[in-house]
Amino acid sequence: MTPLAPAHLQWDGDQPRAVAYEDRYFSAQDPRGEVRTVFVEANRLPERFANARRFAIGETGFGTGLNFCLTLETWREHAPPDAFLSYLSAEAHPLAPSDLSRALRAQGIAGADIGTLLAQYPPLLSGLHRIHFPADRVVLSLVYGDAAPALARVQGRVDAWFLDGFAPSRNPALWNLAVFRQLGRLSGRGTTLGTFTSAGQVRRDLEEVGFALQRVPGFADKRERLIGVFPQGQPPAARPERVAVIGAGIAGLAAACALRERGLNPTLFDPHGAGNRASGNPAALLTPHLSAGDTLRNALSLSGMRATQALLGTTGVNSSDRIVLARGVEHRGITRHAARRLGHLAASDPGLAGGLFAVRSDDPELPVIFYPDALGIDLGQYCRHLGAKLQLRHRQVQTVQARADGVTVHAGEGSETFDAVVIATGAGEAGLVTGQPRPSVVGGQMTRIRTPLTALGDFALTGKGYCLPERDGQYWLGATYRRDAGSAGVRHADNAENLSALRWVDPALEDTAAVEVTGAWYGQRAVFPDRLPMVGAMPGPTVTDGDPLPRIFLNLGYGSRGLLYAAVGAQLLADRLCGLPEPLPDTLAQLFSPARFEAGEHRGR
Ligand SMILES: Cc1cc2nc3c(=O)[nH]c(=O)nc-3n(C[C@H](O)[C@H](O)[C@H](O)COP(=O)(O)OP(=O)(O)OC[C@H]3O[C@@H](n4cnc5c(N)ncnc54)[C@H](O)[C@@H]3O)c2cc1C
Ligand SMILES: C[S@@+](CC[C@H](N)C(=O)[O-])C[C@H]1O[C@@H](n2cnc3c(N)ncnc32)[C@H](O)[C@@H]1O
Repeated sequence: MTPLAPAHLQWDGDQPRAVAYEDRYFSAQDPRGEVRTVFVEANRLPERFANARRFAIGETGFGTGLNFCLTLETWREHAPPDAFLSYLSAEAHPLAPSDLSRALRAQGIAGADIGTLLAQYPPLLSGLHRIHFPADRVVLSLVYGDAAPALARVQGRVDAWFLDGFAPSRNPALWNLAVFRQLGRLSGRGTTLGTFTSAGQVRRDLEEVGFALQRVPGFADKRERLIGVFPQGQPPAARPERVAVIGAGIAGLAAACALRERGLNPTLFDPHGAGNRASGNPAALLTPHLSAGDTLRNALSLSGMRATQALLGTTGVNSSDRIVLARGVEHRGITRHAARRLGHLAASDPGLAGGLFAVRSDDPELPVIFYPDALGIDLGQYCRHLGAKLQLRHRQVQTVQARADGVTVHAGEGSETFDAVVIATGAGEAGLVTGQPRPSVVGGQMTRIRTPLTALGDFALTGKGYCLPERDGQYWLGATYRRDAGSAGVRHADNAENLSALRWVDPALEDTAAVEVTGAWYGQRAVFPDRLPMVGAMPGPTVTDGDPLPRIFLNLGYGSRGLLYAAVGAQLLADRLCGLPEPLPDTLAQLFSPARFEAGEHRGR
């Protein structure tokens, strides 16, 4: 995550020009006509959308977002109601929100679309940032940074390209073999492209990476332009149609939601129903996990926070659901270790972490950080909310078996074969498939109290343990760590441990004997050694040779951070399963790789 220089614009009326490139963002005479001819119709989008289940567009140069917004209009007009569009766009110099809004309004783009774009507009940092248009089943992935290296980090497949990056003579950085090789890598048989230019060097270089091109009459004052098709590689995968998700905790539910968004109708298996194991947690925190200088983990936190916020939005969480218990989390450097870590963070630039934190005190003895977008959530309630919209079978799965024609799920007396299976069983006892990596199990308990705490607002506190306001003057304190998973269940000793550990929160907690305990909750975390989940194809021989897509996926080991990582893990998993552009750059996706602890580890799919 490195800071980007924003676009510097000059306005001719409502026409934006890029000062650095001395060029216009779109045609002065007929911007809508240009987009329609040069990109939308050049790629035959109306007819391809009409027949699409899932479709992916790639663009070089997001600019004002006009191409995107007009594609969205075309999508609405032609695509079937359950089809899914993934739009990937590279941009080195994002527009300021006010410039973007002005340019789009002048072209008659609907205020609601501009509003959705701006409400999720990413910080000015390199990397992949997603914006969701849930009502249309569209995700926009902005790849911020210089196109060649930025696109090199993207995994997935694109069906149609828009090449739109100022005149090649003014901007060779976007029209060269390094960029085009990435387009070729992300293309498959039948991928098309459209562009306004027909410059000889562009033509030769696109042909060199494998595109077959045709010169066609240009738009407005341009004599010719190019359309093209990629004749090599795999055609788009028809599968999967039938997908099973095993486990209805937040990991399985978020994965099922992401699959549904992509037009699939996954079958969930869980004998206990939605959110009844670790995800039954009545008071969990969504906080970023930040360290000064650890740009990879900080980038993962930014993606995780944005994905969870988007999932809450797309799944219709509102204030009446009583799912969100607190907004904002204050982190105090109570322990020596936390003081050191937060002290370093307080001395760093919040902008480099996407504004995920603000410094409330840089006192080295007691640094205090505030996470404005963090939330306190009744996770159990949220899971039940998600589960209500999904197809759930109350059955325990015994084994999962890969076969030539699919994956068989054995549950109770019956068995059923699916195209793909996602194992999201958390700390569930047995491995369901031979060789399945097993997380260790760490139990933990939360304690509910009814004692007026004057030091707390409507935000939550963390430092040594955490304290979260519930409702009706009650608070949750937590959590303990119990490695002896044999001693499952609520214990009096754990309540005492929580009360003692959280005295720092408020003077009213000094006298632990005087605190009224009104409840407790116990759950089991599933933890891998680096405390990151496994999201991706089951490593090893279950992936059939020659099969374009793997069939058994793992989605487990979320440790203490299910709320931070499950939503982005779900997006990653669903996109990988469908062969769509992924939400994380490969450098971050590798941190979730199920193969990462294996000797001679093979990374990637
Ligand atoms: C005390 C405590 C405090 C925590 N605090 C936080 C916090 O503040 N913030 C945060 O983000 N996270 C927190 N966590 C962690 C969070 O709860 C987990 O990361 C998250 O719930 C894991 O979700 P999951 O879906 O992977 O697992 P689970 O919720 O455990 O779901 C797995 C599901 O799989 C099902 N299953 C298992 N085996 C089978 C099978 N064979 N067939 C069918 N179904 C099966 C189970 O019934 C279960 O429903 C806390 C956890 C604990 C224990
Ligand atoms: C002509 S504009 C794109 C117009 C845009 N498609 C729209 O709908 O408004 C070209 C864009 O390419 C971006 N750009 C230029 N060089 C780039 C590079 N090397 N990598 C990524 N983006 C680049 C510019 O910042 C600019 O926003």
